[in-house]
Amino acid sequence: MIHATRLSTLALAAGLLATPALAQSVNLYTTREPALLNPVLEAFTKDTGIKVNAVFLKDGLQERVKAEGANSPADVMLMVDVGEINAAVDAGVTQPIKSAIVDKTVPAQLRGPGDNWVTLTKRARIVVVSKERVKQDAITYEDLADPKWKGKFCIRAGQHPYNNAFFAAYLARNGAEKTESYLKALKANVARKPGGGDRDVARDILSGQCDIALINTYYIGLMSVAKNEQKGWYDAIKPLKTTFAGGGTHVNVSAAAIAKNAPNKDNAVKLVEYMLGAKAQALYADGNFEFPVNQDVKESAAVKLLGAVTPDTTPLGDVAKNRKAAADLVDKVGFDN
Ligand SMILES: [Fe+2]
Repeated sequence: MIHATRLSTLALAAGLLATPALAQSVNLYTTREPALLNPVLEAFTKDTGIKVNAVFLKDGLQERVKAEGANSPADVMLMVDVGEINAAVDAGVTQPIKSAIVDKTVPAQLRGPGDNWVTLTKRARIVVVSKERVKQDAITYEDLADPKWKGKFCIRAGQHPYNNAFFAAYLARNGAEKTESYLKALKANVARKPGGGDRDVARDILSGQCDIALINTYYIGLMSVAKNEQKGWYDAIKPLKTTFAGGGTHVNVSAAAIAKNAPNKDNAVKLVEYMLGAKAQALYADGNFEFPVNQDVKESAAVKLLGAVTPDTTPLGDVAKNRKAAADLVDKVGFDN
């Protein structure tokens, strides 16, 4: 009897001890790849004792959180592409992130409206050229419209989210009239109908179909370490230092948002803050050759390969607002026809 009591007392004590430990968890919804995220999530748990329950989704992330409503277990949402992330804000499933670490680490233009999301990593959209046939090291986006590139420019579909974000940034900077002329001039320069993937432009530079193209920086990194024919595509291209005429490179982002009904909000903030730390930034960014948002990380894989990038100062929230208008202009000029 005494023995049994002692056991139940022990069990009770263990239960009391276990309760706070069990409460130390955070629920993450993400469209990112498990292989990319797991190293940083494991490091977070090891360093903080907070367990991460990750739900990996192909798409429909904000729709799912919205459908779950007030009972959604989602604490943190990790997404890619400013349009996707802002759609979550517009759907009302986020809340502002209040954190001194965020304020210190993430420049205002790389945060969502009302700090409803924060950038974790950047991917620049830059110009690559044929290493063999083009002899220059820098270019502006505006120069892509120069008729000297007629029949030499390759690009994926104008309505693809990466180009849509780029054209929306152009629109935010220059207005509708100039953007329409720009799109017409780019279209006049294409070597082939806009389409395919970003890496295909490198393939088509190797084959001689085009001399100059737009590509997201992480694809350059991924091709540089490829063990297949993509290594040959990488060897054929030269990345140019690419900026708008007034300075600044167009970047898109991977970002974190805290869910409006986050049941573990404190841990959600801790996870976001952890992911902005130098150690996590390197773990998370290098796996996909993305640029860390934390300026203290100097030797990231992307920077080593391509050099540092200074982002366009247009707030990404403004870029997101111009996406619909940019898409309409792409249709108007028949860019993808
Ligand atoms: Fe991509």
